[in-house]
Amino acid sequence: MDLSKIINSNIAGIEPEGISTFSQQIAGTPDLIKLTVGEPDFKTPEHIKAAAIKAINTDQTHYTAPEGAIETRRAASDFLAKKYDVHYEPESEIVITIGVSEAILDVYLALLNPGDEILIPAPAFPVYAGAVQVAGGKVVFIDTSNDGFKLTADKLAETLQHHPNAKGLILTCPNNPTGRTYSEAELKAIADVVKNYDTIVISDEIYSEITYGGQHHSFAKYLRDQTIVFNGLSKSHAMTGWRLGVIFAPAPLMKQLKKVHLFNTYNISAFIQAAAIEAFTNGINDAAPMRDVYKQRRDLVTSALASVGISVVNPEGAFYIFAKVPDNFDGTSVDFCLALARDAHVGVVPGSAFGPGGEGYFRISYAASFDDLTESMNRIKSFLAVKND
Ligand SMILES: Cc1ncc(COP(=O)(O)O)c(C=O)c1O
Repeated sequence: MDLSKIINSNIAGIEPEGISTFSQQIAGTPDLIKLTVGEPDFKTPEHIKAAAIKAINTDQTHYTAPEGAIETRRAASDFLAKKYDVHYEPESEIVITIGVSEAILDVYLALLNPGDEILIPAPAFPVYAGAVQVAGGKVVFIDTSNDGFKLTADKLAETLQHHPNAKGLILTCPNNPTGRTYSEAELKAIADVVKNYDTIVISDEIYSEITYGGQHHSFAKYLRDQTIVFNGLSKSHAMTGWRLGVIFAPAPLMKQLKKVHLFNTYNISAFIQAAAIEAFTNGINDAAPMRDVYKQRRDLVTSALASVGISVVNPEGAFYIFAKVPDNFDGTSVDFCLALARDAHVGVVPGSAFGPGGEGYFRISYAASFDDLTESMNRIKSFLAVKND
């Protein structure tokens, strides 16, 4: 039997995800300092680990309600209300997922009929586009590279005129890979445009706790009835391996989303939910000290890059720097990142992995130790000095 014939052609046509593909490609490089993955290097706070251990020892090891135990949903609801002044009913407007990764696909599966469009401002986290394809939808990228790597209300209005039936718009604030954030005025202007269309804003706020300039504003504050919010613990609480995300959505949308989640996973592990309750309540401010350290690292990397003439997109949040491939480098962003891995033993991600607008850039994740960051900046400096000779 020809096994390739049995595969859904839609799935077979999907390109592998760019960040992990590139990371694997350079993984065998000796003495590589990996600044590729968006993975906090901090340890999960002890009190959260203790809550999970206690839950296991007290036999919280069975199914919970599919959407998450009501206590978990209440804790997530309180977290969002206290932090960002947006309010969701634990009973009908929240579901706990296996990371935001699950949330993305759940939402697409709930929204998209075959061929329906999702608008993705790019460069963007690559999973957004790949998951649209998995769900049988169509990606419409909006290149933000000429607008300071932000979606402007004008560009959105123009795009929606051409795609008036788009089902969803992705908004990521703070952004991966650029670290850009949106002001209240910018979010309001976007809301004013979207409210004229039957388009849902899918607001990925997983980096909400890691903003440097000012307070994070949830998009739901401006257009609650047309917004789905994602948040989670991976980045804020250094809990990537625990896999906990949350979807907040108006009840009529959530009613359908819950079906997808239930058929997909039923519930996430009971003891991980216990840890999440601890994180959302007693750990409500756990991210603050980590954020302060990330800020110092951001400053270290941006000034080191500036000293060798590499310009960066001003990062206001998350833990990434989107830096420009030097003008005198002859090649693509993939060529540059391969050369950097091979010759300088520093791993970064080519901008092209993030879609339109990304070529000509590379992403550095500075969720790494000061020592690794200092050493990798020295290596980049020497690499460029040799190239410029
Ligand atoms: C913007 C963005 N959304 C979602 C995710 C996935 O998060 P999770 O670990 O909750 O699945 C990431 C991870 O890098 C991300 O950068």
